[in-house]
Order: sequence, then C-alpha cells, then structure tokens
Amino acid sequence: MTGEAAGASPPAVELDAVARTYSRGEPVYALDDVSLTLARGSYTAVMGPSGSGKSTLLNLVGCLDTPTAGTVSVAGEDVTTLATPERARVRGEQVGFVFQTFNLMPRLTAEENVALPLVFQSVGRAERLERARDLLDRVGLGDRTDHRPSELSGGQRQRVAIARALVTDPAIVLADEPTGNVDTETGERIMALLDDLHAAGNTILLVTHQPAIADRAERIVRLQDGEVDAIDAVDAGGTP
Ligand SMILES: Nc1ncnc2c1ncn2[C@@H]1O[C@H](COP(=O)(O)OP(=O)(O)OP(=O)(O)O)[C@@H](O)[C@H]1O
Ligand SMILES: [Mg+2]
Repeated sequence: MTGEAAGASPPAVELDAVARTYSRGEPVYALDDVSLTLARGSYTAVMGPSGSGKSTLLNLVGCLDTPTAGTVSVAGEDVTTLATPERARVRGEQVGFVFQTFNLMPRLTAEENVALPLVFQSVGRAERLERARDLLDRVGLGDRTDHRPSELSGGQRQRVAIARALVTDPAIVLADEPTGNVDTETGERIMALLDDLHAAGNTILLVTHQPAIADRAERIVRLQDGEVDAIDAVDAGGTP
C-alpha cells in the first residue's frame, strides 16, 4: 500500500551479490551470492533449514557483520565501506533487532534492558524509562518492568527483547524467530505487533520455521545452503 511514490528514495535494504564465508580449516559458505532488495515498508519472511544462512543474513542486514564479498546498503548507505563506528551509527538509527537468543542483560531490569538502546542516542534517563515502560505496556508486560530476565518466563523475555528492539522506533525491524520459544497466545501477540509495525510503514524482515507465521508477510525468501532458492509472493487475502 505504501508503494514507492517518492521514487527517488532508496530501498530500505539492498544486498548485491553478498557472500559470507567463515574460514574454519575448510571454508564454510554461510551465504553465497545473495542479492535481495527490501522496499521501504515491505514485509519479508525468511525460511530455510537449520544452517541455511538465515541468521547470517539478518546479521548482515543489521550491520552486526560484514560480508566477505558483495555489498549491503541500508537506507541508501553502503555499510560495507563504513568504519565500525559509522556502521554502528546506521544500525542505531535504522535497525531494531530481535535476536534468536534474546541477548538481554542479566543484571538489568526489564525496563532498563528496554531503555538501553536509547542510552546510545543520548536520550535523557527520565524519557528513556518512560519510553521503555510504554513499550513494555504494548507487549503486555507493564506489570513486570522491574523484573530481571531470570525472573521472567521465556515468552516474557522474548517480549522484553522485542520491546528493546522497538524502543528507538526503527525504520527496519529484524526478527530472528521471534515466536520460536513462546506459546501460541504470546506468538499471536508478537505477530500482531509486527502487523501493526508493518501497517505503520516499517520495513520488516522476519526469520521463521513456521509456514503459518511466514504467511503473515508479503513474500517469503527461501534459503538453501546459503543461496536464495526461491522468492514466493504470499497470496494476500488467504487469512482474513
Ligand atoms: N561464527 C561462525 N563460524 C563458523 N561458521 C559459522 C559461524 N556462524 C555461522 N556459521 C555457519 O554458517 C552456516 C549458517 O549459519 P546460520 O546461523 O546463518 O544458520 P540459520 O539458517 O540461522 O540456522 P538456524 O535455523 O539453526 O538458526 C551454518 O553452517 C553455521 O554452522
Ligand atoms: Mg538462525
């Protein structure tokens, strides 16, 4: 719906002939010659067997890793040529990342964890905590703001991780199996949140093993042994 009316504005993400090789004695080709464009406001799911390169792809898009060949552009900036601090700046400005393993800080409370990305954006403490509490409310954890990760269930931790990814209001939301470790009801809540973000114009890239979850996206990128095997459009209107 959002379309490309502006015309001149670059896509949210563009990967051109991207490879990521790990050298461990024998080289591991985690990604090989992947080209992919994420239009602004698009919603893309990534599927593929374990080890096919899904998390590697998200790490590259999320500016946490750099390719061994090819280029990755985020909001029109070629992040592969940027120095590490500059790449971190692009990440902080553009990307919210929900990790496959939540990566919460064990000593911080839920609201401190959620507020953390704002520290790097020089937002004052009072506003940080206010925004963190607002996000925790939105994921249904308004009554758990002062709990530490060890005092939360797995699904609750996942929702804290999602709140943290969203607190900077990122244009691009990356989610690596956000419903992988949660019950059906929590999973539905998370997916509804992603639907809302998509409706608000955010660009979403979601990794999942579950076909019913992938069908919430507009298209599905299928990875196989580090290569794009197929890109399928999702038949809209299938689910009311
Ligand atoms: N740091 C690393 N060093 C060496 N090999 C790695 C490293 N990280 C990932 N790999 C390899 O790269 C390949 C792709 O890994 P990746 O984590 O992207 O898979 P995935 O599709 O996310 O799998 P899963 O569904 O299990 O999360 C795998 O074969 C993995 O063993
Ligand atoms: Mg993975």
